[in-house]
Amino acid sequence: MPGPRDSHLPFALPDITDEEIQAVTAVLRSGWITTGPETKAFEQEFARYIGVGHAVALNSCTAALHLALEALGVTESDEVLTSTITFTATAEVVEYLGGRSRFIDVERDTLNLSPDRVRETIERQYDWRDGFWRHRETEGRLRAIVPVHYGGHPCDMETLLAIAAEYELKVVDDAAHALPASIGGRRIGAMGCPTAFSFYATKTLTTGEGGMFCTDDDSLADRVRLMSLHGISRGAWKRYAADGSWFYEVVDAGYKYNLTDIAAAIGRVQLRRLEQMWERRRAIAARYDREFASVPEVEVPSVREGVRHAWHLYPLRLRLEQLQIDRAQFLEKLRKRQIGASVHFIPLHRQPFYTQRYGYQATDFPLSEQEYPRLISLPIYSRMSEGDVESVTAAVRDIVQESRA
Ligand SMILES: Cc1ncc(COP(=O)(O)O)c(C=O)c1O
Repeated sequence: MPGPRDSHLPFALPDITDEEIQAVTAVLRSGWITTGPETKAFEQEFARYIGVGHAVALNSCTAALHLALEALGVTESDEVLTSTITFTATAEVVEYLGGRSRFIDVERDTLNLSPDRVRETIERQYDWRDGFWRHRETEGRLRAIVPVHYGGHPCDMETLLAIAAEYELKVVDDAAHALPASIGGRRIGAMGCPTAFSFYATKTLTTGEGGMFCTDDDSLADRVRLMSLHGISRGAWKRYAADGSWFYEVVDAGYKYNLTDIAAAIGRVQLRRLEQMWERRRAIAARYDREFASVPEVEVPSVREGVRHAWHLYPLRLRLEQLQIDRAQFLEKLRKRQIGASVHFIPLHRQPFYTQRYGYQATDFPLSEQEYPRLISLPIYSRMSEGDVESVTAAVRDIVQESRA
């Protein structure tokens, strides 16, 4: 049995090698450090990897989600359906545009947005009037669905896309956790709907901060590109190039969401290393699964047939009725054993901003309310050694043993 750790195991660590450091150094020495040739190359390589027509590099996934909804024409009269078990970024972008986000409960096994609940919500709360599904109370027009691939397990995209087609809704895919996830060999990002990826520091591919918007639609890609740089008709790289022209036009009030070449250089190396980093996370997940199979007080994440899980998170569910402690005490015991762990996510319907704005009731989200108090996220990242993984499993076993009901 391994002894207690002598140092804290962080919940997440970026996997940065000398290759990324050298790539950044080269950009710093090059004389061009903001959006330019590295970003262009990163976009092309990313689009090829995903199997999608366009990739637009941005400074966050939040920016990608915001610009996607903007490009689809979401405004203050509109409503967007999404999962309650997600990060606030998924919903706040609807608020940026003055629209209303409407939260939906999740599926029991994956904790992903439930297609059944989506359909039920539309049928119960919206009527078809004047060419739109309008909410019976707010009169808001239902415009889009935003699936979230919780932890990296793909959503049931076939059903969600079919519902969207049936009700004439757009889909913007929040794939912040879903690189490199796929369904039947087709990558998330190539599902036929605009998709947003995150390269935040804890993600499966990181550029420190960063994101990517993917689409096959030429006009959506053009709009996102335009609005990502002040609504200016041509980027600075083109203007300042040797054969560039000083002239540009502001055609809309855009945003400042571009990715720098410094970040893109990290991203290009990370993309080359992505499969190898994913293999390591998959091996860690497999080891957790094996070790916890003999611990009935915890429930390991289930993976559906035919999907590839990105393993951004490893959400373990506690069987609280078999333990004398609650989730907060469990996390505290992990912390005392030097294991960093977390909770993903406090459901958005419980967050004060959304509760006050929309008046959500816990009873509207029975599954999220049942699962959230049992959820903990264990560390899962490619830099973890076998010893690190073992210290996590040993700590979980130890806590379970001393806390059995
Ligand atoms: C589900 C989800 N969507 C969107 C985001 C936002 O990503 P970013 O930090 O790149 O804006 C996150 C960030 O963690 C997330 O977890």
